[in-house]
Amino acid sequence: METPDKVNPELVYSLRRVTEGAACAAFNWIGRGDGDDGGRAALDAMRDALTRIDIDAEVVIGETSPGEAPQPKRGEHLGRSGASFTADIAVDPVEGTSYLVRGLTNALSVLAVAPRGAMMNPAPAFYMEKFVTSAAARGKIDPTWSTVEKLEALAKILNKDISDLTVFVLEKPRHRELVGEILAAGSRVAMYPAGDVAGALMAAVPGSGIDALMGTGGTPEGIMSACAIRAIGGEFLARIDPQLQTEGKAVKDAGLDTSRWFKCDELITSDDVFFCATGITTGLMLEGVERSKSHYKVQTMMITGATSERQILTSYLPIERFASVAAREVA
Ligand code: FBP
Repeated sequence: METPDKVNPELVYSLRRVTEGAACAAFNWIGRGDGDDGGRAALDAMRDALTRIDIDAEVVIGETSPGEAPQPKRGEHLGRSGASFTADIAVDPVEGTSYLVRGLTNALSVLAVAPRGAMMNPAPAFYMEKFVTSAAARGKIDPTWSTVEKLEALAKILNKDISDLTVFVLEKPRHRELVGEILAAGSRVAMYPAGDVAGALMAAVPGSGIDALMGTGGTPEGIMSACAIRAIGGEFLARIDPQLQTEGKAVKDAGLDTSRWFKCDELITSDDVFFCATGITTGLMLEGVERSKSHYKVQTMMITGATSERQILTSYLPIERFASVAAREVA
């Protein structure tokens, strides 16, 4: 990929404004029972913030299954046309819409950026199976092994007892068997109803309390997680795993191989990636938005591939900057 000279690692400080803006916009909808309006407000805020950044970004993964939270369209351009950094972008204005709607912990606003052409476009797959763990296990665990084989190998690599391993799994009916296998192997599960971006990041970061992520989740979330993990180190493997009938047919028609496991470097082919996640509600990794009369307080994880840096920044943002958000506030 011939763009590194155009990629300024400091860009992450501008990109953080995109997820911060989205999180502040979503704040008004925490615990209001409406995910669509919150998602739309967050997406509008993202679009708006991107127009102030020197980036011409094409949405690689956008609108997925019908009825999902508002997303930009695949192929849509965000940012400024003609900007010096031409990029691929994947965004999730509200990662964990069900958390937002119900006023629960763990809702995030997320974006990932890579030089143009560097992000795999897995159209028309909505779902992928993921295997994520820390860098120590990179290349050492075959994702096609049985669950117990994977856990035994991981325990050895991490120098832990298998009973001390904790595996993040989305709590979904499709994972009943997987959860049974993890428990039968003697390991623990951490089951969350949503939010496998946070799960993937924790699985990749040693000492987070999560040793691995297993199971099937969204493709956009997978690609965004892969960007972050490519930058900070870790193992991220994924396989297209359609869950819907229409999706299965579309994947078949597109000739996609559902038995092939992709490595992180195949999903994201450049090191010059950026990843930002801002907490909407306080969660596993980040504090949620707080609002006072004068400021929004927000916390953002920023990851820069070029420098392999991971930072968590707390920002106090003057409330006037969000006047347009306030105007749309729920009455
Ligand atoms: P939203 O961003 O739409 O709220 O999705 C949350 C999420 O839990 C992701 O973290 C996960 O990858 C995906 O949904 C799983 O999809 P499903 O809930 O359809 O199994």
